[in-house]
Amino acid sequence: MPSPVPSASQTPVPTGPLLVTGGAGYIGSHTVRLLRSLGVETIVVDDLSTGHAAAVDGDFEQLDLGDLEALKDCFQRRRPAAVVHFAARCYVGESVTDPASYYLANVHHTWNLLEAMRAADCRDIVFSSSCATYGEPQFVPLTEDHPQLPISPYGKTKLHMEHMLDDYARAYGLRFAALRYFNAAGASADGRLGEVHEPETHLIPLALQVALGQRAELLIFGGDYDTPDGTCIRDYIHVEDLADAHLRALGKLQAGTQCLQVNLGTGDGYSVQEVIDGARRATGHPIPARIVERRPGDPPRLLAGGSRAIEQLGWQPRRSDLDAIIQDAWNFMRAHPKGYDV
Ligand code: UFG
Repeated sequence: MPSPVPSASQTPVPTGPLLVTGGAGYIGSHTVRLLRSLGVETIVVDDLSTGHAAAVDGDFEQLDLGDLEALKDCFQRRRPAAVVHFAARCYVGESVTDPASYYLANVHHTWNLLEAMRAADCRDIVFSSSCATYGEPQFVPLTEDHPQLPISPYGKTKLHMEHMLDDYARAYGLRFAALRYFNAAGASADGRLGEVHEPETHLIPLALQVALGQRAELLIFGGDYDTPDGTCIRDYIHVEDLADAHLRALGKLQAGTQCLQVNLGTGDGYSVQEVIDGARRATGHPIPARIVERRPGDPPRLLAGGSRAIEQLGWQPRRSDLDAIIQDAWNFMRAHPKGYDV
């Protein structure tokens, strides 16, 4: 379907070099690749604790954001024009049992990053926020002005990070974009980059692992929600659409916009059952699935609302229909059945 908004190649190309934390991770690696395809210089900074060296395109420094001196040194040497900050811990369940590591990796390390930026007079940052900052939906779809009352430590750390950016913007002239992702999914269209998490907890890769014969069955967390088929509804957004939004946000900040807080989703939802049916269609595999207990903290419906993405970024999803998402994820998984290491 033709889109009325300009494609990535028609939008202003950000000025580099861009320092990309977490550029060896899932969304970071896709964004780096898009930026480099447009000729933008990138420097990936990643400690490889969860990222993958094989996913990194171009310049790379293995660096722990906990090491403030090394980070400041990196900024002094490389003089980035802007930062794209993906590095974070991102498991809701783990954040409940181990909040300390989330406050360290997400909040403390972001403070380090902002201090290194301040010392180098680097002012622009695009940040990976989350729909998890909204908490239990009071209304759906979730517009950007929905109250932010996160219920998990993960969501709380992302909200702390948004607050830090806002305070640094007011006090020190930082310019920031907080991009609140809904359910990132899919893989690069050529099957080279994709989603590799250890452990994997996300629905689409788990369903595809069943199709690959790596798991016997998929567990459906709850079949008695107040939704048409009783399973939870989520807003799946293609990782390449997310990458495109980062490019646009960088362009806006570099053109002088000081603050952007934007939802990134499609506004359309698919139930767990519909995702499983889509995975069956794409793979031709029956994908056995069994309904079990609800997973604590799962709202029945999470859908992105609001018009800021189109109004402020000129962004709208292009590859985010469910079949395209699953097909791309499947292409990647067939090419990398054991992740990037093989
Ligand atoms: N699900 C299953 N079985 C599984 C895995 C997931 O039924 O084996 C269900 C979940 O209960 C949920 C849906 O599939 O209803 C999607 O679950 P994911 O784990 O794939 O994604 P989440 O919606 O839990 O997580 C996403 C982002 C997080 C973000 C969170 C906010 O990945 O980063 O939304 O709630 F924090």
